[in-house]
Amino acid sequence: MITSAHIDDIRTQVRAWRAKGETIAFVPTMGNLHQGHITLVREAAQKCDHVVVSIFVNPMQFGQNEDLDAYPRTLAADSAAITAAGAELLFTPTPAVMYPKGLSQQTFVEVPMISDVLCGASRPGHFRGVATIVCKLFNIVQPDVAFFGNKDYQQLLVIQTMVEDLSLPIEIIGVDTIREDSGLAMSSRNGYLTATEKAAAPALKIAIDAMAKGIKQGESIDAVTEQAKASLVAAGFTPDYLEIRHAHTLEAAQRQDQALVILAAAYIGKARLIDNLRFDR
Ligand code: PAJ
Repeated sequence: MITSAHIDDIRTQVRAWRAKGETIAFVPTMGNLHQGHITLVREAAQKCDHVVVSIFVNPMQFGQNEDLDAYPRTLAADSAAITAAGAELLFTPTPAVMYPKGLSQQTFVEVPMISDVLCGASRPGHFRGVATIVCKLFNIVQPDVAFFGNKDYQQLLVIQTMVEDLSLPIEIIGVDTIREDSGLAMSSRNGYLTATEKAAAPALKIAIDAMAKGIKQGESIDAVTEQAKASLVAAGFTPDYLEIRHAHTLEAAQRQDQALVILAAAYIGKARLIDNLRFDR
């Protein structure tokens, strides 16, 4: 594994691979890697000749009262895990490398509308921070293909929209959510849960599945949403949002829409967990 915090080192290595006509896959992460991230790396290794991973806890996408400082940093274990999964180049920049002028740099990437709802409404500026850092990372690594998790469904749509709108020559691949045996979606933030909270947390996925089942059986969106919210509260969650939206636009689902997605975010203890289910009516 070649590991570097410097942009030039990454560019030099990628250029050498490109000169030989080899393909490059990229998996951007914030570290504290679990099997969800590792699956992205494995799929990347199957698709391309070389896999580049970045680990950067991006301050621009965290709000003032969020967990930037507490976000777990586990570089040694992360590096070993991605090496075993087939990655060859690891980019670990510092904030000063990515933001030499600080967070008040003048240029940002904004993907309005799709960034303003759901997680974007609860976390103002979050997707601007995500789109800006991913665009910067894409410009540094210049991959052929980049891998993202369907777990962060809205993030995936933001990135796909950015790539289309800015004509970036990068194929974006979404990978299915990897879960614990309990059904709980794997997340670095699951580490904030106590044993009791972790035992209650699968209720999020159960509530989403019940909503999809109800919709397929012809129940109304309002009825299934109310039931699901009540079940989350009963399990100890404080729901942030629980919505059924059009799968491509994230606009409110209309009666005639076939392609739907249920998106949920809810607090339990110190953690804010998200999950979703893409389905066709
Ligand atoms: P992070 O939360 O570290 O996630 C990195 C990638 O792993 C994302 O594409 C995310 O969707 C994916 N992922 C997380 N949990 C997953 C799971 N259980 N199954 C499958 N994939 C999963 O998302 C970010 O970092 C950042 O916003 C980033 C894109 C790196 C920009 O800073």
